[in-house]
Amino acid sequence: MRKISKILFVFVALAMLTACGASGSESKTVKIGVAIYKYDDNFMTVYREQLAKIFEAKNTDSVTYELTFQDGKGDQAEQTNQIDAFISQGMDLIIANLVDPASAATVIDKAKAAEIPVVFINREPAEDDLLIWEGRTAYVGADARQSGTFQGQIILDLETKGDINGDGVVSYVMIVGDPANIDAQYRTEYSIKALTDAGVTVDKLLEQRGDWEQPKGQEIAAGALAQFGDKVEVIFANNDAMALGALQAIESAGRTVGEDIYLVGVDALDEVVTLVNEGRITGTVLNDAEGQATKAVDVALRLLDGESVDTHYWVDYVKVVKEQ
Ligand code: BGC
Repeated sequence: MRKISKILFVFVALAMLTACGASGSESKTVKIGVAIYKYDDNFMTVYREQLAKIFEAKNTDSVTYELTFQDGKGDQAEQTNQIDAFISQGMDLIIANLVDPASAATVIDKAKAAEIPVVFINREPAEDDLLIWEGRTAYVGADARQSGTFQGQIILDLETKGDINGDGVVSYVMIVGDPANIDAQYRTEYSIKALTDAGVTVDKLLEQRGDWEQPKGQEIAAGALAQFGDKVEVIFANNDAMALGALQAIESAGRTVGEDIYLVGVDALDEVVTLVNEGRITGTVLNDAEGQATKAVDVALRLLDGESVDTHYWVDYVKVVKEQ
C-alpha cells in the first residue's frame, strides 16, 4: 500500500512539474504573411532578406515572429490568392509588396473585415486607399522624386554636366522600369527635371520600358547604341539591374563609361557600388532596403501592439558616386 501511494505521489508530482514547465516556457507565436511582388527582382531580394533578418532579431523567449513569404511572380491574380490564404490562415499581420498597387483597396477591404493590419512596402498605393482603414494600414517607402533628382545631380556634378561632345545639348536614353509604378514615373521625370531646372538643354533620343530587368536593360541600351551611336551621352536607368544590363551593352559596343558616355542607376546594389568605385558606372542612388525594412518592422510591431499608425513612413535615398 505504501509503495503504491509513493508511486502515485511521484506520478502526480511529475505531472504537475510538466504542466508548470509547459506554461512557464509558453511562448507566443505571431504569424506574419509577407507577399512579395516577384522573387526574381534584385532589389526586392535584398529587401526580403533584410525583413527576415530584422524580425528574427526581434524574437524573444516570450514572442516568436513566424514569417511566411510568398512569391507573387509578377501576377496580381496569383498574389491575390496568396493574400486571401494569409487571411484565411488567420495571420496576425500582412506585409504587402503589391504586384499592382491599384489592388490595394481590395486588399484593405478584406484585411479590415478580418481585422488584420497591413503594411505596404516598396510599391506605393493611393493615399485614398490607405485611408479606407486609417491608422491600421500604412505605406513604408522612399520618395522616388528624390532618387530621380539625385540621378540628375550626379550628371550635373560632372565637369561636362553630361554634354560630352560639347554641342550644348545632353542627348540621353531613358530606360524605364514599369511605367505603372510610381518609382519609375518619378525617376524618369525628376532625373531630367534636375538637368532642365539647372538650365541644361536636353534631347531625349529614346525612352523605353525595361520592367526593372537586367536583360531588357541590355537589349534597350544595345538597340539605342546601334541606332544613335556616339550621339548617346547619358543613359539613365530607373534601377541598377537595368543599369547592369546597359553596362554590358556599352562595353560590348566598345564605349567607355566616364570617357565617352555616362551611366546612372538607382538602388546601390553591392555589385553596382563596386562598379561605381571602379569607374565603370558613373553613379547610383542608395535605395535603402535595410532602412526601409527596419521601418516596416517598426510599424508592424506598433500595429501588432494595437497602436494606430500614420499613412506614410519615408526613408531617404542617398547619392552614391566614386569614393575619392
Ligand atoms: C527598385 C527596383 C525594383 C522595384 C520593384 C524599386 O524601388 O528601385 O529595383 O525592381 O522597386 O518594385
